Amino acid sequence: MKTYTALLTGLGNVGLNFLRLLRAKTTTLCDQYGMQINMVGVADTSGVLTDPNGLDLDRIIHQKEQKRGVGLLGQRGGSPLHMVNTIQADFLLEATPNDLKTGQPGLDLARAALRTGKHAVLASKSSLVLGYSELAGLADPTAQLRFSGAVGGALPTVNVGRRDLAAATIRRVEAVLNGTTQLILTLMANGQPFEEALEEAQRMGIAEPDPSLDVDGWDTTLKLVIVANAVLNVPLKLEDVPVKGIYPLETRGERWALLGILDRMEDGRCQARVEPTPLTPDHPFYHLGRDEMGIIYYTDIYGRIAATCGGQGPSGASAGMLRDVIDIHTTREG
Ligand SMILES: NC(=O)c1ccc[n+]([C@@H]2O[C@H](COP(=O)([O-])OP(=O)(O)OC[C@H]3O[C@@H](n4cnc5c(N)ncnc54)[C@H](OP(=O)(O)O)[C@@H]3O)[C@@H](O)[C@H]2O)c1
Repeated sequence: MKTYTALLTGLGNVGLNFLRLLRAKTTTLCDQYGMQINMVGVADTSGVLTDPNGLDLDRIIHQKEQKRGVGLLGQRGGSPLHMVNTIQADFLLEATPNDLKTGQPGLDLARAALRTGKHAVLASKSSLVLGYSELAGLADPTAQLRFSGAVGGALPTVNVGRRDLAAATIRRVEAVLNGTTQLILTLMANGQPFEEALEEAQRMGIAEPDPSLDVDGWDTTLKLVIVANAVLNVPLKLEDVPVKGIYPLETRGERWALLGILDRMEDGRCQARVEPTPLTPDHPFYHLGRDEMGIIYYTDIYGRIAATCGGQGPSGASAGMLRDVIDIHTTREG
């Protein structure tokens, strides 16, 4: 049995779900993979809580379910970055919010993890959007960089592209990477006007009270930039992508999707765009459900490879993080 130690930054939807998942899958990890994960440090905005012998997951989950910070149980005002720099652990699991101007706090946390020999498993996107090449350059077999939960949660966007398309030239990528716009556009295909569809998505708790990041296409763009960098090895930046959101849009009851598109050109460069696109019945996304996302890779040697997934929410991102941890374990331990 291999025992790993881990730090977790961010205990919101994704981080808290990760702890619940870890608790629920303890036996599977042990019996199926011969591994266990000992959480030795967690952090939120209130501070940090650490114990080199392993933290009590039930206590942390209870604390966060009571809407109280973990700093109240440990070091109030303690710095997550200091924790990552000073506490010995095998993994950093990173699930703090995104700042598109600075990539923080995720960027510094990921840098610190990789520099101190920890595997960095990220759910947050902005650190990758702004610092992918730097972080990939810091990574090595003893401090790997993984982020399969960051780009579409459970949808295996990055893994399919990097692992299962070996030696392929990827000519085009089409992806539905944002759940809110997929829901709204599906409701609009059923005849609802945009405003009504948005209100319904907000009532269902899918759309944020301020839905602009999703509706204006920026969430899709972030994920597309990560796919371009990490899968196609193209140093695409946010400002290289023309972005059109789904408002105002007249769908006249037809099927549309907000697509992130990457086209590889003859000279190897890549053209990217995010735009609402009408779908014909023969398109693989035509029947994509209202709570589904998907990605299609068009390749030279594997043809068209499509993956979809549905109904996941933040638990999909947490599962993606666990998938990364297990993958690092299995590739290292054989
Ligand atoms: N939600 C999803 O479905 C989903 C899917 C894929 C990827 N992601 C990504 O995962 C990340 C987390 O998403 P989420 O939905 O879990 O967000 P969330 O619910 O807002 O939780 C964010 C967590 O980070 C903590 N935090 C904020 N600033 C911090 C700082 N400077 N230092 C340490 N902790 C800090 C917050 O602390 P408090 O608890 O004290 O407020 C909270 O626990 C985001 O980057 C998001 O883009 C989310």
